[in-house]
Amino acid sequence: MPKFPLLSLLSALLVAVLAACAGTNVASNAPATPGAPSLAEVYADNFYIGAAVNARQISGRDTAGLRLLASDFSSITPENVMKWEEIQPGPDTYTWELADGYVELGERLDMWIIGHTLVWHSQLPAYVRETTDPDQLRAYMEDHIRTVAGRYAGRIDGWDVLNEALNEDGSYRESVFYKVLGEQYIVDAFRLAAEAAPNTQLYYNDYNLNNPQKRQGVLRLVKLLQDNGVRIDGVGMQGHYNLNGPPIAEVEASIDAYAGTGVNVMITELDLTTLPNPWDLDGADVNQDFENSPEMNPYPDGLPDSVSTKIADRYADLFDLFLRKDEAVTRVTLWGINDAQTWLNNWPIRGRTNYPLLFDRESRPKEAYDRLLTLKDN
Ligand code: G3I
Repeated sequence: MPKFPLLSLLSALLVAVLAACAGTNVASNAPATPGAPSLAEVYADNFYIGAAVNARQISGRDTAGLRLLASDFSSITPENVMKWEEIQPGPDTYTWELADGYVELGERLDMWIIGHTLVWHSQLPAYVRETTDPDQLRAYMEDHIRTVAGRYAGRIDGWDVLNEALNEDGSYRESVFYKVLGEQYIVDAFRLAAEAAPNTQLYYNDYNLNNPQKRQGVLRLVKLLQDNGVRIDGVGMQGHYNLNGPPIAEVEASIDAYAGTGVNVMITELDLTTLPNPWDLDGADVNQDFENSPEMNPYPDGLPDSVSTKIADRYADLFDLFLRKDEAVTRVTLWGINDAQTWLNNWPIRGRTNYPLLFDRESRPKEAYDRLLTLKDN
């Protein structure tokens, strides 16, 4: 029985109306381009095609985004609504509405449903972030994981149990969890998640996992769990890439290394920033305020065809790799449905116009989308 019947009813009605309007059966991944196969259909034999969804899509306000979600994707990830600060803002305060709506949306669309994320140093409420007592922090972590993972046991298919616990050199990030509890927090987090949701896959998720040094850190973390007899089912390589890097060979070497430990590999937050960043400029002061800098926001009114083609080429190169590795790669999730919603419009510089995803600001398929639809024909 849905926890919030009105939200659930509105969202269910919307999905049904979208299906009727689009003349599609929402659960069948009918195509965004009538007559063509959908993205999820094209890759159904290889890996799930996922999308991060935001509050506007979960609550049914982004009808164009929901139509694409139903037509072209087979997995969903909550961009923000299940993070600790959103779902448990106080020690005795849980806010379930959007998280429940997210899971109900995934069930209605017959999606592979991801939970993101149980333990992360960012978007953490102050009562946790400022804890110094080990017993108190251990109690907070146990309560959070048992309550959240337990609530959706049997409904969420895979959890990002732990997010971004490593530094670029592969050492442990000095998060509040590591500083107060040591590396044992990693073992405890996965053990608690496995107890709360025994049939849910459990993942470690992080960015720059193509980086050889960070790769060694991941292998050490997976070994720590396996040596302690605690289940880990997959490693999530976030995939916040750009048009020129990281090298395909580096990504491939990491896929092979993680798969070699016996876990699945997933590309969990794929987007390709198309704009320059301060650190790309020789000698740039990254702390300089670049807001409203035309140099940093070169395409405010639209993308040149040459750049659209470069994005398509880069997505094609990456998907060629994922297809070659589809024994190990079980999911490729885009970090958003369309360019209007991407976090990259506001990071690392606020108010820019970025073009990192497969659908444009009006939710129309881009050249990169068309390229991926026909990639396997070549
Ligand atoms: O909800 C508040 C809203 O009430 C307020 O009016 C508004 C004012 O700016 O802020 C809103 O919160 C924002 C939140 O997204 C929800 O939209 C935060 O400011 C903003 O910082 C937050 O950004 C998210 C970011 O994680 C936070 O680190 C991005 O949307 C989200 O895409 C991004 O996702 C992370 C993954 O979870 C983990 N991997 C890296 C990835 C990119 O950072």
